[in-house]
Amino acid sequence: MPALSQRLQRTLNELRAAGTFKSLRHLEIPTGPVTTIEGVGEVIVFCSNNYLGLADHPEVIEAGREGLRKFGAGTASVRFICGTFTCHRVLEERIAEFLGTEAALTYVSCWNANEGLMSTLVESGDAIVSDELNHASIIDAIRLARQATKKVFRHSDLAALEASLAEVQNSPVKLVVTDGVFSMEGDVARLPEMIEICRRHDATLVVDDSHGVGVLGKGGRGVFEHFGMPTQAPAGVILTGTLGKALGGAAGGYVAGPREVVDFLIQRSRPQLFSNAVPPTVACSAAKALEVLMREPQRVTRLHENVAAMRSGLRELGYQVLESTTAILPIIVGDTARAIELSNKLLKMGVFVIGFGYPVVPEGTARLRIQMSSAHTDEHIARALDAFRRLKDETGS
Ligand SMILES: Cc1ncc(COP(=O)(O)O)c(C=O)c1O
Repeated sequence: MPALSQRLQRTLNELRAAGTFKSLRHLEIPTGPVTTIEGVGEVIVFCSNNYLGLADHPEVIEAGREGLRKFGAGTASVRFICGTFTCHRVLEERIAEFLGTEAALTYVSCWNANEGLMSTLVESGDAIVSDELNHASIIDAIRLARQATKKVFRHSDLAALEASLAEVQNSPVKLVVTDGVFSMEGDVARLPEMIEICRRHDATLVVDDSHGVGVLGKGGRGVFEHFGMPTQAPAGVILTGTLGKALGGAAGGYVAGPREVVDFLIQRSRPQLFSNAVPPTVACSAAKALEVLMREPQRVTRLHENVAAMRSGLRELGYQVLESTTAILPIIVGDTARAIELSNKLLKMGVFVIGFGYPVVPEGTARLRIQMSSAHTDEHIARALDAFRRLKDETGS
């Protein structure tokens, strides 16, 4: 332990000296558009993935309570032994119905879903081709697939994707994996072209649409709806996503796609075989969140209006917001310590925005990332823009 302890303390001290040491903030009430942070007070939240305001929706809370009353705290078993409740089936059927896939399978997180999917589908000699800016859960999931050949292509570069696929043309099975919405840039994967490229190379496209579902498309069905494809994922595409963002915000993830993929994962995916299911409170809350979303698509419309209002307000103030059509509005500020300093200043003004730096994003591209919700009112947006105006006056950034 002394050797480990010395090393950990050295690194932690370096982080403190660099101004990049992270301290957790404790919220005292639910994450609505407004919350209160212990020791800080009331703030408007622009850093949560509560895109549709469902995390504290009364029906979503009540559904969770009802799930707890009806099924108890959990399964006390992995799923294939005696660990699957009827509420899990309801949730999985609803996810499949919403996304227009043949079937869906839930995991305790999307991190878990990505890890459970990738390593299970590929055999020795197969290949996985991945966008360089894919989420950490995809990167780690691919690392777990030790038996496969791996290729990483330049972000959203279709020629690079083709070149990578050409290099692995002899692999019997090829997976191309991408985020639907890239969480640090806010941009959308070029899916229509990617589908066509995958078709030409007999590759299977896997899309993690954690930040697209609930956000993109008129009905919030995500990236495929955004591109005007039928509300359903094109045949053969495999989707993964989280229940921990727009769909209730608790936790949980899923794989949705062809029936044989889901059936195969039930047989072989290690998190399915050796780990418990999502708790019933979470399953019931997420199923209710989906029901509310399908019933009230106006939440998605409102989200789109809020994104447009915030984007144009920031631009009028002179901020360079990265181009995107999603609910993620990044402003590049350079180094990590600066991003943290700016977010601390905003917090003092009652606006909760996080600064992200290395290693979450590449060195020198630290950023403030603003995330919008349908639950923000015009007044919340006006107050945030006023804080950004004062920030500019104070810091010149
Ligand atoms: C694209 C993407 N995939 C997966 C995850 C992980 O989701 P979960 O919290 O369900 O593990 C995230 C969360 O940040 C994400 O942004």
